[in-house]
Amino acid sequence: MSQVVPYPITRARKVPASIPRPPYYGDPGPERYEGSDVMPEEIVAKMRVAGAIARDAMAAGAAVIAPGVTTDAIDAAVHEYLVAHDAWPATLDYRGFPKSCCTSVNEVVCHGIPDLRPLEEGEIVKIDVTAYIDGVHGDTCATYFVGEVDEASRLLSERTHEAMMRGIRAVAPGRAVNTIGRVIEAYASRFGYGVVHDYTGHGCHVAFHSGLVIPHYDSDRFDAVMQEGMCFTVEPMLTLGDWHTSLWKDGWTVVTRDLSRCAQFEHTLVVTEDGAEILTA
Ligand code: MF3
Ligand code: CO
Ligand code: CO
Repeated sequence: MSQVVPYPITRARKVPASIPRPPYYGDPGPERYEGSDVMPEEIVAKMRVAGAIARDAMAAGAAVIAPGVTTDAIDAAVHEYLVAHDAWPATLDYRGFPKSCCTSVNEVVCHGIPDLRPLEEGEIVKIDVTAYIDGVHGDTCATYFVGEVDEASRLLSERTHEAMMRGIRAVAPGRAVNTIGRVIEAYASRFGYGVVHDYTGHGCHVAFHSGLVIPHYDSDRFDAVMQEGMCFTVEPMLTLGDWHTSLWKDGWTVVTRDLSRCAQFEHTLVVTEDGAEILTA
């Protein structure tokens, strides 16, 4: 299996003028979010809508996956689904990102730019979609297979999903957010998988990335305490090798330094009285 290399990127897709843009649209980056990560029920209700659209757009992208299909074609399917449901593709033009979702193949950890590279039998591809609608975001990612994949990749993907679910089951008011990372890392270590440190979960609601950090590894640095109504993502990236990453010259594409394969799953959730409600399930 060969190393992933950059291919040409098609022009940014058009969004009907009738779809409201997020406040950061056209800016080099969003303004620093100073508000709370605890959302009132009326915002959470809107996030259920955004979350369901993101989930279904991701499934629409996944439906076109096959050997020979480009990641640009996945992007087209995601984009069409989002705009048909009155949602803005939150990654489009976000800090200059050129496409309507992220597609990350094999050793690409995250933030892969959809391009004209055809997928090959046996590859894995992560699709990460963020929908913005009615003032809120829903952010979700899953790992998909191109045809049949080797057993190591299949197990990595299954266990990354399980790691995410274990992290989500550790969510409860009164606990520190690093509980999530401790649980995920403990599970991943059983299999010798690397847990990516450089990219984390984040507060996600009216802000795309609020500044709240949700680690997927055990670190005392992240001692923010979860509260009922808090909205954030859990999105572990596990690797078959080492956890260190490097960045392509495009400034976006993150790869494992050792080029080992990486799987990722992501949900956006709200902390409930005694656990979590997944908003992108
Ligand atoms: N959806 C990604 C996340 O989970 C963020 C993508 S930002 C982009 O946080 F600019 F790379 F698109
Ligand atoms: Co996210
Ligand atoms: Co995401």
